[in-house]
Amino acid sequence: MTIRKVDFPSHQPVLIRSLIEKLPFVAGVWIDCTFGAGGYTRALLDAGAQKVIGIDRDPSTLAHAATLKAKYGSKFELCEANFSMLELVAKQFKLKQISGIVFDVGVSSMQIDEAGRGFSFQRDGPLDMRMSQNGVTAADIVNNVSEADLADIIYYYGEDRAARVIAKAIIKERTTQEINSTEHLSNLINGAIGRSNYKSNKSVNPSTRTFQALRIAVNNELEELYLALIAAEKILDEGAILAVVSFHSLEDRIIKKFIKSRSTNGSGQSRYLPQLKSNSPTFRELFNKVLRPTDEEILANPRARSAKLRIATRLRPTGGRGNSVKIEFPKVNYKLGIRQ
Ligand SMILES: C[S@@+](CC[C@H](N)C(=O)[O-])C[C@H]1O[C@@H](n2cnc3c(N)ncnc32)[C@H](O)[C@@H]1O
Repeated sequence: MTIRKVDFPSHQPVLIRSLIEKLPFVAGVWIDCTFGAGGYTRALLDAGAQKVIGIDRDPSTLAHAATLKAKYGSKFELCEANFSMLELVAKQFKLKQISGIVFDVGVSSMQIDEAGRGFSFQRDGPLDMRMSQNGVTAADIVNNVSEADLADIIYYYGEDRAARVIAKAIIKERTTQEINSTEHLSNLINGAIGRSNYKSNKSVNPSTRTFQALRIAVNNELEELYLALIAAEKILDEGAILAVVSFHSLEDRIIKKFIKSRSTNGSGQSRYLPQLKSNSPTFRELFNKVLRPTDEEILANPRARSAKLRIATRLRPTGGRGNSVKIEFPKVNYKLGIRQ
C-alpha cells in the first residue's frame, strides 16, 4: 500500500495584514462578510477585536468555522447567509455598535481548486459555480437562456468583446448536446475564438471572461455587493471602518463609485440646487486611493496580484442612516427556459 499525503485546499488571506497595519487599533465587534476559510476573522481577533461575526453563503465554510470556534469560543459566530442580508444579521445578533465591516469579495481558493464546484476551466467538473450550493447553476444558464441574453451576460459581466461569437457557438453546440462540464464549455470557447484572437495578451485563456461572467450571473455578485454596501452604510456608526477587497474591475468600480458618491456632499446634484439632507456625506475614504498588495505578498501568493483594497470611515450620520445617491452597475435580467 502506498501512503499518500492528503493536501487540504486552503486559502491565503489577501491584504488583511495591510488593512490591520493601516488602522490605529482593532477593537470591538467586527463583521467579516466573506468568511471563507476564516483568514480575515482570525487576523481581526488576533489583532484585538472582541468579537467577529462571520458571514458566508457557502455551507462548506462550516468546517473552517468549527476550527475557529474551538479556538475563540464565544468571540466568534458564523452566519450562513448572503451578505446583502447584513442588516438582518446585525439585528439577529443584536449588534448595537459595530467597529468595522470587511469584505474580501469573490471566490475562495477552496472553491476554485475543487473541480466539483465547477468554477475553473483549468479543472474538469460539472458546470456549477454556485457559492451557496443551491439555485440556478452555470449549466442551467448556458443550456437555457436565449442567445441575446447569453451574449449580454458575457459582454456585461465578462467585458468580453467576443461575447456575440461565443454566445452563437454555445447556441449551435446545444442544439446537438447539452453543455454540462467546464471542459466542454472551455473547449467550445477555445474552438470558437482561438488563442490567436487574443494577440495582445496570449497568456489569457479565451475562456477566462466567459467563466467570470457566468460566475457573476449565477451568484448575482454585483447586486449582492451593492446591496451589502448600502446595508453597511445603514448599520455603521460614526468612526466605524468599511474595508473592501476586490479582485476585478467590475467589483472595484462599484466600490469606488459607492465610496465616492458617499464622500462628497450631494454628489451628482447641481451645485446651484440646495443640498438634500439625505445626500450628506456618510463616509470619508482613507488614504484617498486604492491599496494594493506588496511585491512580497504577490510573490508568496500570486492570486493576490489583482487585489485592491479600499477603506472608508463612517461619518456622523446626518439626515437619516443612509445616502440616497444611486450608483450604476451592469445588471442583465436574463430569462431561463428559452431554448432556441
Ligand atoms: C475570497 S473568499 C474570502 C476568504 C476569506 N477572507 C479568508 O481569509 O479565508 C470569498 C468568500 O465569500 C463568500 N461570498 C461571496 N459572495 C458572497 C455573498 N454575496 N454572500 C455571502 N458570502 C459570499 C464566498 O462563498 C467565499 O467563501
